[in-house]
Amino acid sequence: MLQRTLVLLKPDCVERRLMGQIIARFEAKGFNISGMKMLRVTPDLAKQHYAEHVSKPFYPSLEAFITSAPIVAMCIEGLDVIRVIREMLGATNGLNAAAGTIRGDFSSSRQMNLVHASDSLASAERELSLYFSNDQILPHKLLLTPSLRAVDEG
Ligand code: PPS
Repeated sequence: MLQRTLVLLKPDCVERRLMGQIIARFEAKGFNISGMKMLRVTPDLAKQHYAEHVSKPFYPSLEAFITSAPIVAMCIEGLDVIRVIREMLGATNGLNAAAGTIRGDFSSSRQMNLVHASDSLASAERELSLYFSNDQILPHKLLLTPSLRAVDEG
């Protein structure tokens, strides 16, 4: 199924100059980046984004981290992109993430885990609307699509 997901390159990713390497993985996989912006997350946006975690003990630390420096927000499109990008990220805690995943290769932390990605269709829809207006998402069919997958794959 063709889906959209929200991906955030978090402050540690920007600080560590890993943006290019991580974006390259999503591009190489064959996904389309149809929205992209750099922004500073405000405490208010952080509370909306992490609404289900606001009452947890680790939330103050998570908010301080995500608001500490600019992030890059992306809308990424592709077949089953929500599941596939979560698999490309690996387990939440970099220490538990499998080698070959982004966190497995670059992170040794649960908080500084470099990248956020939506975990379901409902989350993707909700989170994308926090970061992008409709006119900031520019869907496009790439000319190389026939080289990426067969016509009957979607
Ligand atoms: S997940 O991958 O969303 O299912 O992970 P989850 O365990 O639900 O964690 C959600 C986000 O909270 C962050 N997190 C923490 N930050 C600091 N300290 C502790 N103990 C902690 N536990 C979880 C974690 O990095 C997740 O951030 P996102 O942006 O969703 O990846």
